[in-house]
Amino acid sequence: MKGLILSGGTGSRLRPLTHTSAKQLIPVANKPVLFYAIEALVEAGVTDIGLVVGETRKDIQAAAGDGARWGARLTYIPQSTPLGLAHAVGVAREFLAGEPFIVYLGDNLVSEGVKNLVSRFEQTAPDALILLSRVDEPQRFGVAELRDGKVVRLVEKPKVPASDLALVGVYLFRSRIFEAIEVIEPSWRNELEITDAIQKLVDWGGHVEPHMLTGWWKDTGKPEDILEANRLVLETLESSVAGTIDGCSQVTGRAVIETGATITGSVIRGPVIIGAGAVIEDSYVGPFTSIGPGARIVGTEIEYSVVMAGSTLTSIPGRIDRSLIGRDAVIGETAGLPRAFRFVLGDNCRAEIGWKGGRR
Ligand code: DAU
Repeated sequence: MKGLILSGGTGSRLRPLTHTSAKQLIPVANKPVLFYAIEALVEAGVTDIGLVVGETRKDIQAAAGDGARWGARLTYIPQSTPLGLAHAVGVAREFLAGEPFIVYLGDNLVSEGVKNLVSRFEQTAPDALILLSRVDEPQRFGVAELRDGKVVRLVEKPKVPASDLALVGVYLFRSRIFEAIEVIEPSWRNELEITDAIQKLVDWGGHVEPHMLTGWWKDTGKPEDILEANRLVLETLESSVAGTIDGCSQVTGRAVIETGATITGSVIRGPVIIGAGAVIEDSYVGPFTSIGPGARIVGTEIEYSVVMAGSTLTSIPGRIDRSLIGRDAVIGETAGLPRAFRFVLGDNCRAEIGWKGGRR
């Protein structure tokens, strides 16, 4: 079986982070989301993996390389325009060469991995195997309608969902899907939807097998999803300390402190990860926080947040919460007077200020 990870697209809902980097490279517990997909495939024995890439190809290729570090072989397949998931699968037809394959959306995280799915697909040999998970906002996803455990209808982002069963971004197919991709029309959002292609298989009387997820699943399409994915992954990490912690600091709960990180005069309350070479000084780093490599947190309190590599946070008066801070960002005290808020924010940035004197 071959693997196909879809890592093109534009990541418009994750701007400004995606102005400078691919959305699949956004770190969750200090590791790009994409790497979780590669690891899940390799764990299931799928090592011949195609990566569909768009305008961020260079960054993705620089990060993932040839796959040797996972014992995999990665082939980069360009998609000139992000015309939809079915289009992305279509451009990989030659790479897939008639073999059954597993498609994994490069911005999805699935806690239970895909090993069981691969063996189930091999045993029951359906035309397609889809994963379903109950969600609160089905209108954000592809939605499945089942009758007597069988798939009867699949609709992409329905205004009025027929169920709360969302299509998870992992699909197993054999080559019949290409016949379906050839005949579907672009959707209202002008994309060739994989959901519509699978519906075609259903219309043709094909065997489309549903599988209910038992563990958690996250589509990291929006900032709050990344924070939530970060929380879920941090809860599974084993504590380890490779950095240094001085005698005045206190570390409790699950904590990964990577090589060269230094913690002085600070309180760390896990689950957290502090990246290699990061500096935490006179600060509080609370639950569900990832501090990227080389970041500096000085005189600051932060929790339930992701701070990416190389960023600096100094002397923040309140506590930082539910924040996503990109690479090499600087948040600190205003030098001199007036003691005003001063921002240099790029396009599509968002800053929220909740301080004591503020109107509520
Ligand atoms: O996350 C699950 C959902 O993923 C499913 O419930 C939906 O049925 C499915 O259509 C998909 O919806 P999204 O709107 O979230 O897909 P998105 O545009 O975010 O693309 C998913 C991944 O595929 C992402 O890593 C980018 C990549 N992609 C996307 C497009 C449109 C491509 O590689 N090429 C493309 O043309």
